[in-house]
Amino acid sequence: MLNTNLIYLSPSGGTKKVAELIEKNLNSYSKVSHTNLFGKSFQEIEDFNFEQIKDVDMIGVGTPVYEFHMLKPIKLFLKGIPEVNNGKEKRPKVFLFATYGNVSSGKTLLNIAKILNNKNYQLIGALKLVAPHFYEESDYFPEQKIVDLVSQFVQLLENRVKNPPEWEEMKKNLNYQKRLIKLLNPLVKSPFSNAVFTKIKINHELCNECALCVKNCPTGAIDLNTGPSINKDCIKCYNCVKVCPTGAISSKLDKLKKRISKLQDLFHETPENEIY
Ligand SMILES: Cc1cc2nc3c(=O)[nH]c(=O)nc-3n(C[C@H](O)[C@H](O)[C@H](O)COP(=O)(O)O)c2cc1C
Ligand code: SF4
Ligand code: SF4
Repeated sequence: MLNTNLIYLSPSGGTKKVAELIEKNLNSYSKVSHTNLFGKSFQEIEDFNFEQIKDVDMIGVGTPVYEFHMLKPIKLFLKGIPEVNNGKEKRPKVFLFATYGNVSSGKTLLNIAKILNNKNYQLIGALKLVAPHFYEESDYFPEQKIVDLVSQFVQLLENRVKNPPEWEEMKKNLNYQKRLIKLLNPLVKSPFSNAVFTKIKINHELCNECALCVKNCPTGAIDLNTGPSINKDCIKCYNCVKVCPTGAISSKLDKLKKRISKLQDLFHETPENEIY
């Protein structure tokens, strides 16, 4: 039996549901463990003990797409993963899964693939899926078509463990983005990003110290002793805004929803869900 570790961060739970579905399907031919990065600060990720994944045969890396990219904590984690030197036949396998909100998955899968290929991991497959935004009702997810696609994906992985695809072929397939997204890529994290994502505001006087925001922050970025205050590890997932019962942490979510809806109409990536 193989040994697989699933590494992911899922601020609003969609990517985690996909990881659980992958685990269910993988169980027939692999033991599965999880490295769920929820709640870890950037520093904790930089200090991660990679001994835990040293002896696994396969890793699966999952991220939501944020501003056309992988999440920053996932990027930090991948940066820290040691290069492997097992010889061609024994290279650990890797597969990727990304969820996105029907705007664009950017070059997320391609960028993760390149980092891990450079560290000598052998890419055997990737999956992109549309999943709910944090402000949407999410109980419907994963719907039957997603359940079926994940099952197909895991079957494909079983074959590809024995017959891995060529890296050049995988790289070509993951380079699916249209020219517009490639052009927009450098603009994200700049005025474009600020024009879409509404500011998060804090009103200290309204805080009742219930700590719900702290429990739901995926990067441990909130300190109640000083406010509440939010530090630089914030990835702007809006979980704190969603759970705060008093409005002490707030943002103009109606405005944000309208902007995202416009972007969905403008970009609308096809095919929405795909196995590579
Ligand atoms: C700050 C932020 C940026 C996002 N950027 C994108 C994006 O560039 N493209 C897209 O299609 N969806 C985007 N989304 C939507 C998420 O990718 C999508 O909801 C994802 O499934 C969330 O995964 P999770 O439930 O595991 O947190 C963004 C969401 C947030 C909060
Ligand atoms: S501070 Fe709020 S918006 Fe920032 S990462 Fe934490 S929960 Fe998400
Ligand atoms: S959730 Fe809101 S009220 Fe509760 S501790 Fe956080 S900021 Fe304060």
